[in-house]
Amino acid sequence: TYVVTESCIRCKYTDCVDVCPVDCFREGPNFLVIDPDECIDCTLCVAECPAEAIFAEDDVVASQHHFIALNAELAKQWKPIIESKAPPVDADEWRDVKDKLQHLER
Ligand code: SF4
Ligand code: F3S
Repeated sequence: TYVVTESCIRCKYTDCVDVCPVDCFREGPNFLVIDPDECIDCTLCVAECPAEAIFAEDDVVASQHHFIALNAELAKQWKPIIESKAPPVDADEWRDVKDKLQHLER
């Protein structure tokens, strides 16, 4: 499965959503996750993300491993998003910021 990692927080560009053939993205207030039960490993979303937030589960670096469980957990709570939308107005300012987990809204 593929996993959305920290770079997405407060960026939420949503370009990823438009290419997913199985509509497995789920939307929170300032972050998206991938439903691991639905993702078919097509890889299409990876190149679409301007924040380079999406990785194959096996390629998630150690410092981001908690995002694997977090995608699974939040995918059960959040609703599907099937069409891209405008990102937050300050998305570009957050793109290169590290340690954004504290900003995650549920
Ligand atoms: Fe959707 Fe493919 Fe990305 Fe999985 S890898 S989330 S199926 S676009
Ligand atoms: Fe997030 Fe990148 Fe999609 S910032 S919303 S994973 S395009």
